[in-house]
Amino acid sequence: MSYPQHRPRRLRTTPAMRRLTAETRLHPADLILPMFVREGLDAPQPITSMPGVVQHTFDSLRRAAVEAAERGLGGLMLFGIPEQRDAVGSAGLDPEGVLNRAIREVHAEVGEDLVVMSDLCLDEFTDHGHCGVLDAQGRVDNDATNEIYAQMAVAQAEAGSAMVGPSGMMDGQIAVIRQALDTAGFQDTAVLAYAAKYASAFYGPFREAVDSQLVGDRRTYQMDAANRREALREVELDLAEGADLVMVKPAMSYLDILADVAEISTVPVAAYQISGEYAMIEAAAAQGWINRRAAIEESVLSIKRAGADSILTYWAVELADWMAEKQGSRR
Ligand code: PBG
Repeated sequence: MSYPQHRPRRLRTTPAMRRLTAETRLHPADLILPMFVREGLDAPQPITSMPGVVQHTFDSLRRAAVEAAERGLGGLMLFGIPEQRDAVGSAGLDPEGVLNRAIREVHAEVGEDLVVMSDLCLDEFTDHGHCGVLDAQGRVDNDATNEIYAQMAVAQAEAGSAMVGPSGMMDGQIAVIRQALDTAGFQDTAVLAYAAKYASAFYGPFREAVDSQLVGDRRTYQMDAANRREALREVELDLAEGADLVMVKPAMSYLDILADVAEISTVPVAAYQISGEYAMIEAAAAQGWINRRAAIEESVLSIKRAGADSILTYWAVELADWMAEKQGSRR
């Protein structure tokens, strides 16, 4: 019996052959490191459900930002945990509030070397933990929330954020934020739209990370896991409203969405490998059930393969170290 001439295995025979023919490669500049800073800490505080990730003090945040810049990462995404919360999330607007102060300090330290980004959402700042303000019936009030986002965007831009990341999934948020930034003279401040953000069980560890006060869920504003077509609608709206990048979140259970979005987007596409994705791999690896490094690399590569240009991942620094190590071993 004669075998076909096409033998795909030929290209898998050696590490050099596989390296030559790899269709997808990761680079440190593809990666964005999400970081948490908490007001009132005297030492970095480990997050139990995210082994290796901490709530930073301002000092440790600055040091970690420098490390990230030295690795050549593309950016940082900052999240702040305030001491005081209220119904409308006032600490998010305060120029001295934890997040705005962190942006200012990190911008001063590494603002030239990578893109300093900030989460633009109310959930860390409200005493009810929702991403917006509530109306008399206790529902998240879309338009009232957008008004606050607009002010928050300007406060973050004033603090030095080069890119704001609205993550609250309010309708029209990108247009309102863009307009507010432009009016305040921040035409160059970019907007990374969390365009297709799903209500997900995999945000679990993030709740610990930001000491979330949320009771209930975010299903009236985040997307339903059943929906695929709707993600394209969200992305199209955000593009029309002026999004500079669009994001899909979470990543791993939504790679089909990511591929769809990458297909239609006219701007760079980001994906967020979220806290629960991180926790699952760390937990399985800690049990010795999977090879930690191989699983991390595969998970991030799959996100890039699906179409992400930028990947938010808590492993960004470690991944960059591994990339440098591989590079070094070939010199
Ligand atoms: C909202 C926000 C969340 C995450 C990023 N921005 C939480 C949520 O929407 O419930 C989750 C990130 C993660 O789980 O790693 N500010």
